Amino acid sequence: MSTTAVLGCVWGDEAKAKIVDVLAVDADYVVRFQGGNNAGHTIWLKDEKYVFHLVPSGILYPGKTCILSSGTVIDPFELIKEIDALKEKGISFRDRFFIDPRAHIVLPIHRELDGKCEADDNQTLIGTTKRGIGPCYADAIARVGIRFGDLFEKENLTQRLKNLFSYHKYTVENLDKQVTDLMEIGTRLGSYLKQISYLLHKNNDKNILFEGAQGSLLDVNFGTYPFVTSSHTVVGGIPIGSGFGGKVDRVVGVFKSYFTRVGEGPFPTELFDEIGERIRKQGNEFGSTTGRPRRCGWFDAVAAQFTAMINNLDEIALTLLDVFSGLETLKICIGYRLNGEKISEFPYNSNDLTKVEPEYIELPGWKDDITGIREFEKLPVNAKNYVTTIEELLGIDISIISIGPDREQTIFRKK
Ligand code: IMO
Ligand code: MG
Repeated sequence: MSTTAVLGCVWGDEAKAKIVDVLAVDADYVVRFQGGNNAGHTIWLKDEKYVFHLVPSGILYPGKTCILSSGTVIDPFELIKEIDALKEKGISFRDRFFIDPRAHIVLPIHRELDGKCEADDNQTLIGTTKRGIGPCYADAIARVGIRFGDLFEKENLTQRLKNLFSYHKYTVENLDKQVTDLMEIGTRLGSYLKQISYLLHKNNDKNILFEGAQGSLLDVNFGTYPFVTSSHTVVGGIPIGSGFGGKVDRVVGVFKSYFTRVGEGPFPTELFDEIGERIRKQGNEFGSTTGRPRRCGWFDAVAAQFTAMINNLDEIALTLLDVFSGLETLKICIGYRLNGEKISEFPYNSNDLTKVEPEYIELPGWKDDITGIREFEKLPVNAKNYVTTIEELLGIDISIISIGPDREQTIFRKK
């Protein structure tokens, strides 16, 4: 058996799905272990665009088994829409798609609470995706959540819903209807339920690929709190969220060649000038879940060293390098100053991170279009130099470089 993890190491949207897609060739199982439909994973296949919010991107390969394990939170109404749309494109789910009965259900009340919290002037604006993710995880921790496995016994489900509504001091007029709707979901999705830990441990001749959602700087614990998502996006989230307690053999961290962020929160290397605008346009940096323009900035090696460390990365996939073609000068942040003093650690405090002054090195850019190149050696010398500079700063091999959205537009580096 071999196990690989593909983890976003910034604030999400690192083009993880593209990397999952190229690595899924060797996988038998593709497993989402955290997050919900706040994720937007885009894959281009033969000029057709697929955006996945819940279904693991491995579903495009016939014969691979795709899994939503217990650490994910699932809006079943959205999941059904996604499955139906994919089935219409000829993709089969039979015997190759499974949901852990422990996974929590994102209910309409969770979306409502998410929206209300974001609209409340007395609360910090996070800029969430308003998909109900935070409230659902909060209810799971508060022990009032509804899990997929709860959908099959009417009395128990009614009681659990009553507990949840009472916990939120929420008056419901249509409890019976909510119970009926949820039981209907149970009937529709019931055949997909399976205890995933048994599945993963039983088949120890198989290869597992863990597909991370969001990124390490959005991790509820290690991210730029409180401007984070509510799940464990780092490598430690895998055993917790999947029930697979074995070792992850290969941890691949995904970084964009520049940094982006959607929503609120500190971003030391953010660009507010025409270069930022140009990157946004070239990189099509608009959210695939919410359509919001993404904030763009330079690669931040201080943040990257931190996320590489907490994930114990074995290698790095560097994506969207082609977006830089035509820029005269590129910058990489290699240090922070806080209140005039040089600091050596990535601040845990978002207020401090807002105040840091990044120190940059400058590297020459390149003019040529690199989207057709398939070998590292054939890249312009300045593009190679940019890659090896990041490699040296992080002390980790960049083994995969993406220079376009297509599967083919990938450079694998042999060491
Ligand atoms: P993928 O998997 C980028 C951000 C939101 C917000 C914060 C909290 O496509 O990389 P939430 O709805 O999770 O409570 O929002 O997290 N966010 C993402 N940003 N990519 C994502 O997913 C994200 N999922 C959540 O913008 O700042
Ligand atoms: Mg996204």
